[in-house]
Amino acid sequence: MNSRIEKRLGVKELASKIVSAAEAAALIENGTVVGMSGFTRAGDAKVVPEALAERAKNEPLKIDVYTGASLGPEVDNHLATVGAIRKRGPFIADAGIRNLINTGDVTYVDAHLSHNAELVRQGIIGPIKHLIIEAVAITEDGLIVPTNSVGNSPIFAQYAENIIIELNISHPESLIGIHDIYIPGEQGSREPIPMTDVQQRIGEIGIRVPLEKIQAIVISEEPDAPSLIVPADEETQTMANILLDFFRAEIKAGRLTNSLMPLQSGVGSVANAVLEGFTNSEFEDLVVASEVLQDAVFNLIDAGKVKFAAATSITLTEELQKKVYGNLEKYADKIVLRSQEISNHPELIRRLGLISINTALELDIYGNVNSTHVSGTKMMNGIGGSGDFARNARLGIFVTKSYAKGGAVSSIVPMVSHVDHTEHDVDVIVTEQGIADLRGLAPKERAKLIIENCVHPDFKDQIRDYFNRAIEATGGHQTPHILEEALSWHVNLAKNKTMKQEVPAQA
Ligand code: COA
Repeated sequence: MNSRIEKRLGVKELASKIVSAAEAAALIENGTVVGMSGFTRAGDAKVVPEALAERAKNEPLKIDVYTGASLGPEVDNHLATVGAIRKRGPFIADAGIRNLINTGDVTYVDAHLSHNAELVRQGIIGPIKHLIIEAVAITEDGLIVPTNSVGNSPIFAQYAENIIIELNISHPESLIGIHDIYIPGEQGSREPIPMTDVQQRIGEIGIRVPLEKIQAIVISEEPDAPSLIVPADEETQTMANILLDFFRAEIKAGRLTNSLMPLQSGVGSVANAVLEGFTNSEFEDLVVASEVLQDAVFNLIDAGKVKFAAATSITLTEELQKKVYGNLEKYADKIVLRSQEISNHPELIRRLGLISINTALELDIYGNVNSTHVSGTKMMNGIGGSGDFARNARLGIFVTKSYAKGGAVSSIVPMVSHVDHTEHDVDVIVTEQGIADLRGLAPKERAKLIIENCVHPDFKDQIRDYFNRAIEATGGHQTPHILEEALSWHVNLAKNKTMKQEVPAQA
């Protein structure tokens, strides 16, 4: 056995389980439920799914795939586009599988990411025939140490009949020790999760499994697919500045201190740019308690702004992958990776008082947010952890540019075409136009603030006109709407490729 492999394989008897990717892929039976490691293109198994995709070109093969969150191209593109995925959950972001979901060829179960573990415990997801998990090592005492994400792997490992390990020897050995694996017990007899501080370690450095469940080990050197976020532009920078000013006002009001509260920041370019905004600010000793650590978090650690960061995955652009993984020792005592059941746990989010910042696709004048469905019917990515955080956070903030598609679409509409986060879970809205602090406000008060502060000037008259007429039409109901018109902006977009309408001149 090659010495690089030997170093990572603490239980020497497991050497007999080493097989090729094709041999491991041949173990997966048609029609079964397969759990896979991976969360937002990080820590996913790669060579076995790729071999599975090859196999599916020559024989009937359809499986249900559950993961932590979105995976790289091997699964959410290659395996999906050969038609080998019947059902997929709980989050995707690749255009390949997105298209298949929107043509009805893949059944998709979009779910709060903290909920999956309970669904596995209750047998709603399952029986899980195989877990395919990427690991950086198997320790001498038999712990499987995941790579750049933990996701749902601990619960899958507990319930899966068989485990196939992709031992990825290209990941730095210094990943060993950054994980903190804690699996809550059964509901009904469960103890409180023993964490009162984000920096606390409550579990083990790897996933403990009965060794006889390990069916095969495949050696891999495939790197994670890099994250695809784009750098901040002028508008996202403006949104970051608006948010920082809001935090300053909260400090002045005595509700926050200069180190704020633990920060969660969502996936995507906008959320990353907003977090980057802290770099040249006066805030310090920040703590991140998120789901994904994107580029911004490591830049903030380097800038001395973030002192600790916890999440369930590390998803970086190519440039940051080189910087961070080439130098992981520097960050090792400042980061921890936990299962998504823990990183997104309502009990902890509420206890630790998180500030959560997520991105909306669209929102309405009363503060309801759509994060998932384009024009109400077409899946974008999924709700991810945004609901876990927004509902339970101390402060649930949503950011979005006020317009999309070159200005044809207003991100603020009379009524959202799909609801992911209700008005009750949305505290603050930020666009490049301004901010609406909705806390303690009734629907009509919220609408005025959102319209005046957050809507793009091109749509302001149009949305004011709708709101005023809705009040007139309902005689001042709690949440005024003209039902025949509430979704007319989306109808107009479908027919005329724009949400813009003629607004009659005021009498
Ligand atoms: N109507 C139609 N399309 C819209 C839109 C709207 N109101 N608002 C945005 N879009 C489109 C953009 O045009 C862009 O399309 P493109 O890829 O064809 O260019 C795409 O949606 C992404 O928008 P962008 O402005 O680039 O934002 P983003 O990369 O920050 O992603 C979400 C935004 C909402 C898709 C993303 O944050 C997401 O999936 N969120 C849900 C999950 C989540 O919040 N998880 C957080 C917990 S970690």
